[in-house]
Amino acid sequence: MNNREDRPMADMSKLLEQARRAADASYSPYSHFRVGAALLCKDGTIITGTNVENRSYGLTICAERSAIFSAVSTGRKDFEAIAISTPDSGPAVAPCGACRQVISEFVGEDFPVVFAGREQRLDTTIGDLYPYDSLQDLGRR
Ligand code: THU
Repeated sequence: MNNREDRPMADMSKLLEQARRAADASYSPYSHFRVGAALLCKDGTIITGTNVENRSYGLTICAERSAIFSAVSTGRKDFEAIAISTPDSGPAVAPCGACRQVISEFVGEDFPVVFAGREQRLDTTIGDLYPYDSLQDLGRR
């Protein structure tokens, strides 16, 4: 994990617990699939998000993007790590492609991502989840 001496390493297990709690707020009457995300900001704040569905299904927003957009909306753009919880699945469910791209807008390739279902937890990085980001240079300009 990428770490700087002036801050503690992110406690990914605690972050995952917060993501699990965030999933309880899920609005998912169509899929019945709750997702929670907890985003640790460099100022120490943890911003949570959940999936919010709509009867026009395509308008649904994922938990990860809810958390990122909420953080940016409150003036935070520097992030330490993200945890994602899918308590309605046994296996760990990885973030969707759209969320991978949105996360990658704000972080480097070593950014830690943990995601877990009831029976499986995977610890990885955004670089592993979203390699060969051809628009990265454009985004950082
Ligand atoms: N979902 C997320 O919140 N994050 C993901 O990365 C994948 C999918 C949500 C969208 C929808 O409400 C439900 O999970 C089923 O796809």
